[in-house]
Amino acid sequence: GETPVPPQLKWTFSGPFGTFDRAQLQRGFKVYREVCASCHSLSYVAFRNLAEPGGPGFSEAQVKALAAEYKVQDGPNDAGDMFERPARPADRFPAPFPNENAAAAANGGKAPPDLSLIAKARTYERGFPWFVFDMFTQFAETGPDYVHALLTGYEEPPAGFQVPEGGHYNAYFPGHIIAMPKPLSDGQVEYPKDANGQPQAPETVEQYARDVTAFLMWTAEPTLEARKRIGFQVMLFLIVLSGLLYFTKKKIWARVG
Ligand code: HEM
Repeated sequence: GETPVPPQLKWTFSGPFGTFDRAQLQRGFKVYREVCASCHSLSYVAFRNLAEPGGPGFSEAQVKALAAEYKVQDGPNDAGDMFERPARPADRFPAPFPNENAAAAANGGKAPPDLSLIAKARTYERGFPWFVFDMFTQFAETGPDYVHALLTGYEEPPAGFQVPEGGHYNAYFPGHIIAMPKPLSDGQVEYPKDANGQPQAPETVEQYARDVTAFLMWTAEPTLEARKRIGFQVMLFLIVLSGLLYFTKKKIWARVG
């Protein structure tokens, strides 16, 4: 059948004053790391980015310890050989497969795309009249809404719908047959506990999908907060400047006519 329009969610980073929720980005990173990273690379992101302002807000020490858990390829050394060493904060996330062909071969012929920019690389049509507004604003978070809908969109196919071998039915994937098996299930990722020993957020598919999507929005646009802040300041400056220019003009032309 037809692909439904993904539900429009409220994201903390939407709107002109939007910011990321640090705790959500940290949870989303945990989901990426424990679930998505076995298939999807995140090649534009370096460990040290996780400690930069406007992001998940990990400390430098946390990032150093985290990087050291990974191995990266380096070289050639003096003997001309490639070698493996523990990652450092300046290294990027190592990919789960050595190349596109290996990635495709391990996933039934479809290579899982790199997730660094996916939240901005995907969208959907909202139709008239919304596309008119969407051209001028980035207030409609169509990319994140789609990624969230995709992750929560695994269902039983409608009666009579043939799902081919190696395919999975997803309500929101264009054409409905996706090579990615349902990646999330309830209770799969353990979240940090609050003061009462309860998970900081529900350990459900719905919440995992929101958190990992927020994290992927940050990887796709790590300077989103600065962009919105500076944009607001520029608008404010232009309004004040317009006022000053108006009164300047009044003064200069006061004696004419
Ligand atoms: C495709 C996200 C886990 C294998 C995709 C796409 C997204 C995504 C956004 C692109 C869909 C599109 O083109 O519109 C995620 C996230 C994961 C995750 C956030 C973790 C929560 C996995 C896992 C596997 C996997 C664990 C492997 C077992 C694939 C494959 C595709 C894909 C093969 C290509 C699908 C196709 O084009 O038919 N994923 N994924 N993903 N993913 Fe994942």
